[in-house]
Amino acid sequence: MKQIFLISVLAALSMTAVSQQTTPAAYLIPAPVSVRSAQGSFTIRPAEKIYSGSNKEVMAIASLFSTALNHSPAYKTTVVSGQAGSGIRFVIDPAVKGKTGSYSLGISSTGILLRAAEPAGIFYGLQTLLQLLPPAIEAPVSSEKTWKLAAVTIQDEPRFAWRGLMLDVARHFFTVDEVKLFIDQMAKYKFNVLHWHLADDEGWRIEIKSLPKLVEVGAMRPERIGTFGTFKAPLPNEPRTYGGFYTQDQVRDVVKYARSKYVDIVPEIDVPGHSMAAIAAYPELACTPGVKAPGAGDKFMEWPPTGHFYGLVDNALCPANEAVYTFLDKVFTEVAQLFPFEYIHMGGDETARNFWEKSEAVKALMQKENLKDLDQVQAYFVKRVAKIIASKGKKMIGWDEIMAGGLAENAAIMSWHGMKEGTEAAKMGHYVVMTPVSHVYLDYMQSDISMEPPVYASLRLKKVYTFEPVPENVDPKFILGGQGNLWTEQVYNIRQVQYMIWPRAFAISEVLWSPAKTRDWPGFVTRVEKQLVRLDSARTKYAPSMYDPAITVKGDTNQLLIELTPEIDGLQIHYSFDNSYPDQYYPTYKEPLKVPIDASLLRVITYRNGKPIGRMMSLPVAELKKRL
Ligand code: ACM
Repeated sequence: MKQIFLISVLAALSMTAVSQQTTPAAYLIPAPVSVRSAQGSFTIRPAEKIYSGSNKEVMAIASLFSTALNHSPAYKTTVVSGQAGSGIRFVIDPAVKGKTGSYSLGISSTGILLRAAEPAGIFYGLQTLLQLLPPAIEAPVSSEKTWKLAAVTIQDEPRFAWRGLMLDVARHFFTVDEVKLFIDQMAKYKFNVLHWHLADDEGWRIEIKSLPKLVEVGAMRPERIGTFGTFKAPLPNEPRTYGGFYTQDQVRDVVKYARSKYVDIVPEIDVPGHSMAAIAAYPELACTPGVKAPGAGDKFMEWPPTGHFYGLVDNALCPANEAVYTFLDKVFTEVAQLFPFEYIHMGGDETARNFWEKSEAVKALMQKENLKDLDQVQAYFVKRVAKIIASKGKKMIGWDEIMAGGLAENAAIMSWHGMKEGTEAAKMGHYVVMTPVSHVYLDYMQSDISMEPPVYASLRLKKVYTFEPVPENVDPKFILGGQGNLWTEQVYNIRQVQYMIWPRAFAISEVLWSPAKTRDWPGFVTRVEKQLVRLDSARTKYAPSMYDPAITVKGDTNQLLIELTPEIDGLQIHYSFDNSYPDQYYPTYKEPLKVPIDASLLRVITYRNGKPIGRMMSLPVAELKKRL
């Protein structure tokens, strides 16, 4: 009891310390476990030496720091092995306890002391240290003359071991340099798993030397631009001008680069569904031949309002064909050799099974293996894949559909439909990564549909921040962590990747790293705004969507009522119905707006302290009516 009292007093003290300070330590994302500000500061000298002991990894991390400091032409810092009594010191110290990644950072007038039990902790401590420097440190070239840090002591430890972001490079292709940039940006916020979605209907992105046609045929498609999912199907003999793939040398290079940023890569080969690109290369892998080219963003599945979705073309590998397992053995042999991470992701989501249902080969398989339904057929496939992956010395993870028909032994689950699937899997003793569509799908729009590339749903920053990966009544040891997923159907370039990721990934980073009890939405918003300045300095795009109000249409067609709900406090919303552009002297929103009878357009903009901060939203009344 006494101990509990002491802990709560300490927690209260550290919260007060954080909330009262206005030093950069108050604005860290993810919030550290404990922050104590002190008097004084440390000014880094232009020729400062960074002492990093003799550990090669620590020296490499120290070099990252030195390089960042030297972005200012006034600086020529260097890394030296060995120890010193003061100045900047990065020290491996087994006395720093806690989970992998824990660190202790002390800044005083005599220097910086960063300690951790292993290099990963030093790396995360460095990310914190960089955030304590001004935003100019993020600029490729900085005009800053002096790097100065306020005194502070920080103890920190991650909550979860799996802090992931998924990047889909199949729907749209991103180059090696773009993937590295993505890794740089995620590592700054202490993410440590890149889920690399390497194969889908619209592209196969990884060279498999024993199956050369995968990239010869599967990596290129006709180029289409506009609203993905509505495009023309590839025409016979249409030039395939869009796409790309990673050679095995490039994959090794990316893996090595990610390692240098303490990011593991989990490669995903999505089977048996989502396999049109593979089937275009090797048509015999489907139960029903027909696919001639990777998808071009055309419609190939139906999602009826009720009942099961179904394929318009057969984009699934045939579970009754032994050649499929030979194929997958070859693929996973090479994938396992390229990726040192313990897990391989086999996808398993959204398999349209209507062609399986009609296949004589599948019917024969069901008889032979005594499989009662298509769930069991799918489970048969998944279990065979699990065996293949295990034979390569790897653990298997898959989307939660792989639970249907009975889960393969030792398989880990990526729970995406919601938390329920992951909860069930954890209760059965399977490891789970929580990635519910309701909270962490970063392909969703971030504000009103009028302001975003259209997708079927919205997911606002505030909701992301409420994500809690550990369900009640589940042993937390089975929840490896969580992950934000960026599918790229509607994401055509790396700038838009950044827009979709930030600032929502700030929220995910904090959920996955910081103690659950430190969650504080208003405080988080303040910190997000500080971080956005850093993104500006780094020339990283982000969504300003939290400044746009949510639009809710109420009333009826005779009298529409429009409710505007700001996501954050302290905003004034101004509006017009007369087609003109409102400014801060226009009417201020106070209560749901009655749409005047003949009005055809509502315009809305938010201001803060007399300055526009939101975007001009233009909402045709006819469109609003449709939302009723
Ligand atoms: C998924 O979103 N289909 C995993």
